[in-house]
Amino acid sequence: MSEQDPERKTLTLKTRAVKPRPAAGGDQTRARIGARARQVAQLKIAKEKLSRMQAAGGDNLTAEPAQEGKPLIVRKAPEASYGDKFRHGQRTDSRAPRGEARGGSAHPNEPARANRGSAPREPTPRPASAPKALPLRDGAQTERASALVLDTEIFHIFAPCPTGLEEALAAELNALGYAQVQPTRAGCHFVADWWGVQRANLYSRLATRILVRLGQAPVQREDDILELAQSIGWERWFGAEHTLRVDTSAVKSPMQSLQYCNLRAKDGICDRLRDLEGARPSIDTVRPDARVHLFLSHDTGTMYLDTSGESLFKRGWRLDKGDAPLRENLAAGILALAGWDPEAALLDPFCGSGTILIEAAWIALGVPPGITRPFGFERLRDHDARRWEDLKDEARSRILPELASPLIGIDANPDAIEAARRNAERAYLTEDTIQFELGDARDAVAPAPSGWIVTNPPYGERLDEEDVEFWREWSACLKKEFAGWQVDVITSDLDLPKHLRLKADRRTPIFNGALDCRLFSFELVASSYRDKPPAQEP
Ligand SMILES: C[S@@+](CC[C@H](N)C(=O)[O-])C[C@H]1O[C@@H](n2cnc3c(N)ncnc32)[C@H](O)[C@@H]1O
Repeated sequence: MSEQDPERKTLTLKTRAVKPRPAAGGDQTRARIGARARQVAQLKIAKEKLSRMQAAGGDNLTAEPAQEGKPLIVRKAPEASYGDKFRHGQRTDSRAPRGEARGGSAHPNEPARANRGSAPREPTPRPASAPKALPLRDGAQTERASALVLDTEIFHIFAPCPTGLEEALAAELNALGYAQVQPTRAGCHFVADWWGVQRANLYSRLATRILVRLGQAPVQREDDILELAQSIGWERWFGAEHTLRVDTSAVKSPMQSLQYCNLRAKDGICDRLRDLEGARPSIDTVRPDARVHLFLSHDTGTMYLDTSGESLFKRGWRLDKGDAPLRENLAAGILALAGWDPEAALLDPFCGSGTILIEAAWIALGVPPGITRPFGFERLRDHDARRWEDLKDEARSRILPELASPLIGIDANPDAIEAARRNAERAYLTEDTIQFELGDARDAVAPAPSGWIVTNPPYGERLDEEDVEFWREWSACLKKEFAGWQVDVITSDLDLPKHLRLKADRRTPIFNGALDCRLFSFELVASSYRDKPPAQEP
């Protein structure tokens, strides 16, 4: 909600009489019961929030970043630039200064660009003239009250990510302006208001999900989980009109059966909703409207509302998978760890279906990773669709018209090149954005005096003679053609530097799914490898 919102007025809080709870009935009755319970819950929360604000002296509401125009994300037509297509809305300066327009990209390695534009911000105080409260007289106004609460309420969030990307995710979240970012095993904790939750879904390239913590309690036996689930106000987010899925994961939990723990969690949620609203959600494990995650540690249970829905690495553009594709957030994470400068040339000589390069193109153009996909929070109660569209429009308005440097993909398999081209097209990239070529990595030539090679070559279990020869030849090509370049290779072959006869400057442990990998970073300093004996890896 912007401060300029003309509908927003200073009004006093009026409560509605709470009607007695009706008995359970058919679908329509259930929907009415749900709406009623929701109103009561919102009202209670709004009242509490208001009295807290009044007690604190009042004027500490969160200001939202100004909303901008309504351009579209579209591919570049041959005769037009990306920027031309993005000019459909109010914004006419599609060729905005590069730095300014990059605000939304929030690449972890773009500190200078961090916090520009649409990135979430720390709450800022409203001016003294700003309204203090919203009306609560009828249904529509009650929704406004809900918006007020979501603007000011701070949520504790956990964003899981592939193991090895925790620090990079923390850097990304910090660059996006989030507070209290703490990397931990396979994810990061941070805090944000509800709009910050939505922005994290839209902008994080490295997170796998955005989970909002709704409750936590000591758990020693399965019934503790039931009680925990019963104690959380799920009715604020979903009810009988939704379908539900609950997932349970555990680290060092003494519980015997995670399946039974999951059942207890489901029972607790459904019991509460049935008691409050007369009906319970049905379970759908395939396409649920609402998802809840239960996490069990050795002595604690934590329940999260999953605001993402499908995993965030599903950007929406991949249909063609090729051979062993990387997940999109892992590809973005590798680019972050490699320190790739989005204005520098990038080559992936084993590009497969093009994941690394398509991620790179979106980073360089400032395309938010979630711009074309739906999210779980859109299906929850009281989703403010208008404001969400505004948020996305603002993000679209910041997309750059064109790339500064070449992105090139090579693969020896024509099917992989076809898949990469189709994926790029579905990612709204024009043919000339990424140059995909059929070829052999050993014959690659440098498209620029300096740049990055970031790649995910084929992994073999054991190297035979032929493979040894292959890596030697690729290494010879790198040393001859790519002096001055940085090379980052993700592989499960821990002996790769030895095969390449190169000494890695860095080796970062990282998991590709369940595969224990390393990201090996080599700086190919001009002439330093010529005529040298092979370096030994520790
Ligand atoms: C692990 S896959 C890369 C997957 C890619 N990162 C993705 O996300 O789709 C390795 C790729 O290397 C390609 N490849 C194998 N030998 C090659 C060579 N000599 N030159 C170029 N590409 C090669 C394979 O066709 C395969 O697509």
